[in-house]
Amino acid sequence: MGDGISIDPWSSQQSTDYDRIIKQFGLESIDYSQLPNPHMLHRRGIIFAHRDLNLVLGAHSSNKPFGVLTGLMPSGRMHLGHKMVIDQVKWFQDQGADVTIAVADLEALATRGVPLDECRRVAIEEYIANYAALGLDVENTEVYFQSSRPVVQRLGFMLGKRTNLTELEAIYGFEGGTNLGHVQAPLVQAGDIIHPQLEDFGGLRPIVVPVGVDQDPHLRLTRGIASKTNWFNVNKRKSGGLVIGLSIQDENSAALGIGADGRINREKRNLVFEKLLSILKNHGFSDVLPNPKHGSIEIPGATLHDRDLIRPDLLRLERGMGGLGLLQPSSTYHQFAMGMTGDKMSSSSPETTIFLTEDVNSMEKKVKSSFSGGQPTLEEHRRLGGDPDIDVAFQYLKYFFESDDKALSELEKGYRCGEILTGQMKQICVDKASDYLNHINEMRDQTSHLVNDFLANDAR
Ligand code: TRP
Repeated sequence: MGDGISIDPWSSQQSTDYDRIIKQFGLESIDYSQLPNPHMLHRRGIIFAHRDLNLVLGAHSSNKPFGVLTGLMPSGRMHLGHKMVIDQVKWFQDQGADVTIAVADLEALATRGVPLDECRRVAIEEYIANYAALGLDVENTEVYFQSSRPVVQRLGFMLGKRTNLTELEAIYGFEGGTNLGHVQAPLVQAGDIIHPQLEDFGGLRPIVVPVGVDQDPHLRLTRGIASKTNWFNVNKRKSGGLVIGLSIQDENSAALGIGADGRINREKRNLVFEKLLSILKNHGFSDVLPNPKHGSIEIPGATLHDRDLIRPDLLRLERGMGGLGLLQPSSTYHQFAMGMTGDKMSSSSPETTIFLTEDVNSMEKKVKSSFSGGQPTLEEHRRLGGDPDIDVAFQYLKYFFESDDKALSELEKGYRCGEILTGQMKQICVDKASDYLNHINEMRDQTSHLVNDFLANDAR
């Protein structure tokens, strides 16, 4: 790994050098002014990067369907970190996305030894009950279990063919002693992420997966696998424009005009090219350089944006010819709220976070004893000011409890200049958090009758 940052979805250590993460992993920054109705998590730079979000925004602005997918690990209790993902799911849903949620029960079974019936109980009582309370629209949300959606497992196997241990080693740092549960889980998860595009689950459309940046390895794996299955690649052409290339694989060689003798079957190849050329013509490209023998078509006048427009048609053509026709999933990345003790937030250390079912007294204790960015003495605090960037109370207002940007920035300024004291900041956080917990508690009561309706047919 050299001196690069390694991102590990299972580690408790986390890099917070977000600029470097963007560079090293080839993410794109999010410019929230380009988003419809940006959420406070966008406005505050907390959701800071993406891959291929333009596909989702493009679908949104042209009134075409798009979906959002996330998964939950049915162990432990739902805490503020989990809530942040659901807030994002809800935001996409409000913009028109359909929602699919995977209960990672096979993953929990394989990596944490949680029995499937216990997974079911935890998923429903602890997570889905809160999703309902957080306002997900039951009409447009489907929760399923990995264990009862065979197509997800089948995809896990099929997609597994497109990767190998060396790649998993490079992405996840696996080694000889790695438990195979940890090898299987990302492949089933790739199945989770890919399957909403299948015809039975809504068909070809952009699917976005909002995750914490530690989950990017899963996205890289899934995106890589998806593109390896594609029959038609679209790349930048060296001298400008785009080039479409056939990707000949065992499964498609006959369909793409390779005879049993391994030679090109010209008639068949030409038929494929006619279809490709007609797609390009529909997109307004007449100046194209087809080379059937070589299996490529150059389009000198096309831009990268055109690639986004041409690709869905190529995927549809692939599907029509018997291929999977998979679009790479899109993703967005959020930064992490610090744990309340200053360490990483984790459901296995209750003192590091607040649970959605936490009672107000216990929340108050946690906030009051949380890590603070204040000075050791009152005099110093007044003179030097506090550091809101490392102050849990302020950070939790920023990430979770203060939705008013102006009020938040006043708190930040006041704290920095020493006008607001640590104890005051904590009290403000406690007050806002109490309101929040009471609200969510009430919403849970009001929406409890909906919980079962969130389950997909194959989950009942
Ligand atoms: N692995 C995820 C976790 O640890 C859960 C998960 C399963 C998931 N499938 C997913 C997350 C698909 C996002 C997308 O919590």
